[in-house]
Amino acid sequence: MEHDALNGTGTDRVRPLRVRVGVVGCGYWGPHLVRNLHDMAEVDLVGVAERRPDRLHYVRRSYPTVQLFSDHRELLEGEIDAVVIATPIRTHYALAREALLAGKHVLVEKPLAASVFEAQELLRLARERGLVLMVGHTFLYNPAVRELRRLVQEGELGRIYYGDGARLNLGVFQRDVNVIWDLAPHDISILMYVLEQMPVEVSARGSACVQPDVHDVCYLEVLFSAGTSAHIHVSWLDPDKVRRLTLVGDRRMAVYNDVSPVAKLRVYDSGVDHPTTDNYGEFELAYRHGQIVIPYIHWREPLRQECEHFVHCVRTGQRPLSDGEQGLAVVAVCEAADRSLASGGVRVPVEPRLAPSQSASREGMETAPPSASAR
Ligand SMILES: NC(=O)c1ccc[n+]([C@@H]2O[C@H](COP(=O)([O-])OP(=O)(O)OC[C@H]3O[C@@H](n4cnc5c(N)ncnc54)[C@H](O)[C@@H]3O)[C@@H](O)[C@H]2O)c1
Repeated sequence: MEHDALNGTGTDRVRPLRVRVGVVGCGYWGPHLVRNLHDMAEVDLVGVAERRPDRLHYVRRSYPTVQLFSDHRELLEGEIDAVVIATPIRTHYALAREALLAGKHVLVEKPLAASVFEAQELLRLARERGLVLMVGHTFLYNPAVRELRRLVQEGELGRIYYGDGARLNLGVFQRDVNVIWDLAPHDISILMYVLEQMPVEVSARGSACVQPDVHDVCYLEVLFSAGTSAHIHVSWLDPDKVRRLTLVGDRRMAVYNDVSPVAKLRVYDSGVDHPTTDNYGEFELAYRHGQIVIPYIHWREPLRQECEHFVHCVRTGQRPLSDGEQGLAVVAVCEAADRSLASGGVRVPVEPRLAPSQSASREGMETAPPSASAR
């Protein structure tokens, strides 16, 4: 089973059969994590910490056996092995740090933290304590993305000329971070995983239309370690919901359209063949418009697979596919993009420069209709 491949390697140090988990934050995204964790046989969902009484009321109604806390510290003091953090970005560092210091394994929503400094600190703490630190880069657990990665890695698309991503919708506006930090982590993590390359340089331009100084529409150019470039358009101010990534290779092209109900991935046997000269010595290009193939994708909810993978890593010590290093790399791109935005769109190096993580080359996964819509 593919799923076993994802969750198959690790050490022999198998920890408790049932992992006791607590969730911090149950706003928009938290309930999807709570539902999945609650339904997993290998998880004992012990408690949920949430500041808002209405959200705690929701948890009480839906999951009467789960303990409720208005203060996350009470949850951390309890008998739990791991914590899942689904709170706003500005709170990730402090909460994840407290959880690691309390000896808990941590799955923190994307992005890992609000700065490179914070991300590095979390990595250090997790390493020192031998704890799992995983980031919610949900799309790495998406079967269509995994198939796209297979196509690229097996050379089906040929050499990748460029990538083009669009993640647009009307809202949800954030107050404390711009649209890059909110949405681009998905595209950056997908590209790193699919291309197996690390981002080295980024430039960003955009507009702050609705809230002063909070960019809501941005265009990024990301240059990757083996020379591939990608453009990413992220927006909270667009009439259409778009979640699309196009990869153009010199053999074929592929479009991953996450909002398509039937054909999330299309592979186009299209391209431009080598230039020739015609009888008059004029430059000529041959356009190829071949078949469009829609690969069969066995669907399972990505978030469920992400949760299963986290629990597996906690139990076995396996390094997560979306580990702290991947989280740090994504944060480094967002931080460099902010610097570029502030200086008129100049190219800014992504620092620190990281080697492709071993985890990025791992395979695996299986997949059920999506019930949680990743932002
Ligand atoms: N992986 C994905 O596809 C995906 C999708 C959406 C959101 N997210 C991420 O999930 C995180 C949460 O986003 P959201 O849209 O659910 O935000 P939200 O504002 O809707 O919910 C966050 C909740 O956390 C609670 N909270 C804040 N601080 C807390 C604390 N110290 N203790 C307990 N509760 C606390 C708030 O009361 C709120 O209910 C963000 O990091 C976001 O980027 C990921």
